[in-house]
Order: sequence, then C-alpha cells, then structure tokens
Amino acid sequence: MVNPVVKVQGLRKWFPIKRSLLEIIHAKVEGFVKAVDDVNFNIEKGNVFVLAGESGSGKTTVARLILRAIEPDAGSVFFDNMDITKLDNNDLKKFRINAQMIHQDPYASIDPRMRILEIVMEPLTAYKIGSKKEKEESVMKTLEEVRLEPVNDIAYRYPHMLSGGQRQRVALARALILKPKFIVADEPVSMLDISIRAEILELMQNLQKKHEITYLYITHDLSTARYIGNDIAIMYLGKIVEKGPIDKVLLNPLHPYTQALIDAISEPDPNNRFVEKKIRIKNEMGKEIMYGGCNFELRCPYAMDICKTEPELLEVEESHYVSCFLYPK
Ligand SMILES: Nc1ncnc2c1ncn2[C@@H]1O[C@H](COP(=O)(O)OP(=O)(O)O)[C@@H](O)[C@H]1O
Ligand SMILES: [Mg+2]
Repeated sequence: MVNPVVKVQGLRKWFPIKRSLLEIIHAKVEGFVKAVDDVNFNIEKGNVFVLAGESGSGKTTVARLILRAIEPDAGSVFFDNMDITKLDNNDLKKFRINAQMIHQDPYASIDPRMRILEIVMEPLTAYKIGSKKEKEESVMKTLEEVRLEPVNDIAYRYPHMLSGGQRQRVALARALILKPKFIVADEPVSMLDISIRAEILELMQNLQKKHEITYLYITHDLSTARYIGNDIAIMYLGKIVEKGPIDKVLLNPLHPYTQALIDAISEPDPNNRFVEKKIRIKNEMGKEIMYGGCNFELRCPYAMDICKTEPELLEVEESHYVSCFLYPK
C-alpha cells in the first residue's frame, strides 16, 4: 500500500429485520440483515476502486457508511488518515466538500424545477463559496469540463430537456464543482443506454487523471468495472469474498461467486479478456440462512462440509485475496 486515501477497517452495519406485531407479541427473537459485515479495503490516491456484486450485497450501504450518511455499528473509515466516524462538525463539513457522491439515478439528485445553472451552483451556495460572479464562472467552467456544450445554452435548460447521459454529466458537474478529492459513484451508468455508458466512463477517467480524483466505483456489472478500475472487491451478502488488482481478479477469478459473475456477462465482446470458467450457481440469492458459515455455501457447486464454518479472506497470490476453502492456507 503506497498512499491510501481511504482506509476501511472492520466496517459493520446490521439492520434489524422488521417484525410483524404478532411476532413482537410472541417475542420472536430479533434478526438482522448483515448488510455490511466486517469489510476491509484501502483505496490508493488517484485510483479507481471497484466494489462489485449483485443487488442486495451491501454496496450502497458501504458507500453511505464511507460518506457518513449513516453511522456504522463497528469499524472505522479513514480519509487522509482522519477517522471520519469521529469527526466534529467543522471537520465533517470539510470532509463533505472533499468527498462527493454520484447516484445511479441522476433525477433523484436533481431538482426538476431548477435550471442546470442553479443545480450545478447549489453546492457552492450551500457552502458559501465565492461571489455570484465567481460561482457563475465556476459553473460554466465545470459544464465545459463535463462537455455539456454549448454551455451558454445548456446552463439555462431544465433537466427534462436533457438526455439521460447529459443528466448524468450534470450530476458529475455538481460533484466536481467543489473540487473533491474523492468521488463515490454508485452505479452511475447502469440506467444509461449501453452506447453512452462508455462516454461517461471515459469522462470520469479523464477527470480522474486531470484532477487526481480517487474514486469508489460501485457496480453490479463487471464489464464496466474492468474498463475503469485499478482494484476490485467482490461483495456477497455483506462480505468481501475476493479482492485484488483488477486484472488479477478478473483474469484469474478464484472465488466460485466471482467466476459466476464473470460467466454472467452476456455481451459478446471481441476484446473479452476474461477467462471463461463455466460455473452454474444454484438457487437465487437471498434464500441463504446466515448461520455463520460461508454465505455462498447454498449456491456453491463446490460446497464441502468445511463450508459450514466461516472462511477467512486470505492472500493466495501477491495482493490477491479470496475467502474460500478451495484455497487452503
Ligand atoms: N435502511 C435500511 N434498513 C433496512 N435494511 C436495509 C437498509 N438499507 C439497506 N438494507 C438492506 O441491506 C442489504 C444491502 O443493501 P444495499 O447496501 O442497498 O445493497 P446493494 O447496494 O449492493 O444493492 C439489503 O438486504 C437491503 O435490503
Ligand atoms: Mg445499491
């Protein structure tokens, strides 16, 4: 690890499962959704760290914990060596300027009654940064950076007058205007047409290089992951099951779950660099009973007796970690 900007250590968030009145009266034991269960990773400065996994695996909860939108049950998140779970209000404000989020649905973070100029300017206004003229100049410059041109036209439009890709550029501009060091992008292209996904990813990559932005890129789609990522962690039901440099993990997937995810990429791609390892997983996600063994056991074609106990995330080759008994210590 050279210079991690973000360090996530032992992060945990369990949500109580809602019980019916009857269950409460009969004092049924309370259960938890282990949304994030002892998650550890580092993000190097200027790198893109990909967090991948099916819907419901806990990715968004990790993002919300890292940005301190919710409080963890256990663990720490260090940003530039400061534990953000312990920041006072003043430092939290600075952190919130430096760490921005882009959501899957650009509409959710954009007020449809505001013009693009006001939407992109809003964070500057909220943090009282710059005069009116400075703010306007900054908006125009940022619109240019995300290539929403001609800026003098786009700035005075309303969101509904833009395409999905353009709206995602607005969301990116709104995040960039505060000159953040770190951006969490939660499935930023999954609602866009395949044809414009690459454009947005390329833009994110250019901005990363130009401003040395560090990204946490969240996706359920490994084909976009390999396009943009440096390192990757594969999450399954609250736990990281495999992590490492993106080429190591995607070219030599070790965990049966990672292998299944790679298998599921159906787009024919002439440049496909993935190793094909045909693996059929059993059952649907969510039917697992979390009794303390490997969460993937019920779906795993290689399940063994030992999988009823919990596997550790172990380094099986340099900086490539996997949590699976197929790879003994
Ligand atoms: N606020 C919440 N209250 C209760 N359960 C939640 C809450 N947020 C997320 N969960 C549950 O935690 C699990 C992980 O959710 P999430 O982090 O959104 O996964 P992902 O982003 O990978 O789809 C899911 O089972 C989800 O239903
Ligand atoms: Mg999510």
